[in-house]
Amino acid sequence: MSMTRRGFLGSAVWAGAAAVTGGCATRAGCGGPEGSPMHGYAAPKIPCIRLGVVGMGSRGCGVVGRMCNLPGVVVTAICDNVKDKIDKAQKMLAGKGKPAAKEYFGEVAWRALCDDPNVDVVYNTTPWALHVPVQLAAMKGGKHVFTEVPSALTVDECWELVETSERTKRHCMQLENCCYGEIEMLTFNLAKLGMLGELVHAEGAYIHDLRHMCATEVPACEGWRFDENRVHGGNRYPTHGLVPLCLTFDINRGDRLDYLVSLESNQVNFTAYMEANLKADNPRRASKVRMADMNSTLIKTAKGKSMLIQHDVSSPRPYSRIQLVTGTKGSICDYPYRVVFESKPGSGAHSWYDEAKANEIREKYRHPLWKTVGELAKRVGGHGGMDFIMDARWVYCLQQGLPLDMDVYDLAATSCLCELTERSVDAKSRAESIPDFTRGAWRTNKPLGIVDIDLSKMGVDAKKVGAAEGQITV
Ligand SMILES: NC(=O)c1ccc[n+]([C@@H]2O[C@H](COP(=O)([O-])OP(=O)(O)OC[C@H]3O[C@@H](n4cnc5c(N)ncnc54)[C@H](O)[C@@H]3O)[C@@H](O)[C@H]2O)c1
Repeated sequence: MSMTRRGFLGSAVWAGAAAVTGGCATRAGCGGPEGSPMHGYAAPKIPCIRLGVVGMGSRGCGVVGRMCNLPGVVVTAICDNVKDKIDKAQKMLAGKGKPAAKEYFGEVAWRALCDDPNVDVVYNTTPWALHVPVQLAAMKGGKHVFTEVPSALTVDECWELVETSERTKRHCMQLENCCYGEIEMLTFNLAKLGMLGELVHAEGAYIHDLRHMCATEVPACEGWRFDENRVHGGNRYPTHGLVPLCLTFDINRGDRLDYLVSLESNQVNFTAYMEANLKADNPRRASKVRMADMNSTLIKTAKGKSMLIQHDVSSPRPYSRIQLVTGTKGSICDYPYRVVFESKPGSGAHSWYDEAKANEIREKYRHPLWKTVGELAKRVGGHGGMDFIMDARWVYCLQQGLPLDMDVYDLAATSCLCELTERSVDAKSRAESIPDFTRGAWRTNKPLGIVDIDLSKMGVDAKKVGAAEGQITV
């Protein structure tokens, strides 16, 4: 894609002001729709949230199970194009003593759900190709919308989501659960406390051997994800590694992602796996997979920080999101969790702390949100609890009328890497500019603080919180 159509749109007063004071950092930077910025936006309180879930697969069923633990949330509508999946979700609700949800069954039934007056919030757990259509319909139908990762696949789609959110004043948040992982939040806390010093560099990844789910005779995830990987290069799943780092580095709130270069390896592992595991007449065996085994993307921020983001879903390699952050006073890393600080400036840090010292730091500086909800979250399950913490937090914000932790600009700045990494790879790792979706407001937007939840305000009875079924791996 060349110049986006957003570059030529007329500017709104606020966008124009931001452009004048901040300078137009990108080709789209001077544009802007009618509407107003969504950063820091607090919608009117919704004490009882009526939830519509679209896509009742692995993720969607997990959501229904988790939501049954949160007072003030009622699943009023569910949608899928496979009737069995709707039935399964209804059974789950009944099993928890909840009323049946209204059913929306069919290929485009999500459109009607997005117009349902008994739905306040749409939770979008569909395959990637449906993410943007559902989000746009939800916002235009007056609903806040929360969407699985990546929430968009192209730069133009990202702009459309930004503009629609600004125009409709509806939240459009990407459900990046990894931002609520224990070590990710510990890292954020240490950074905010200044213990890592000035942040310099970060590394994140999605390294997850998914061949057993995708490249099999009958793919576990219906094949849609494998089909995406078959025709696209670059990093098609950048957000798990990247978004938590963006929050820690105040991206869109004092800094912004400026440009990237992306490079990839050969594709060997999917092919070898299919040859070894699929029957000779399976057409998948003959299909070429475009997605490289390893994609590495380097990002430079406007303030000069660097990030390395990797993607590998086909190598025989243990799961990792890396989550390395280096600052002038110390470093932290996950998989496994390690940490070290300089004892005094210039003293150096030549090896990580031993396990006992690292665990002491983990306990002492645990993020307040993890202190409040961590034990409950582990009981509910779902990626070690981070799914529940994420949901509990946005529910709390909507019920209390608070701004959300992440907004549509975070969604856009990170999801746009799907297209930009592929473009860079296809052009021998040419540098690609990352649009400034905030149109200059990143310079003055307030950083995310240390957030928490008051469980008593939510009416959560810890004794009644139980495990949710249908949880799967990240
Ligand atoms: N955040 C995480 O940790 C995490 C983990 C896994 C998956 N995901 C994301 O969650 C999303 C869903 O993944 P999944 O593993 O649950 O996939 P899935 O294939 O199990 O579920 C998708 C569901 O959408 C339904 N669907 C397809 N077309 C539809 C249509 N036209 N109308 C209504 N429903 C339709 C399917 O029938 C299926 O039930 C993806 O975006 C994926 O990337 C996120």
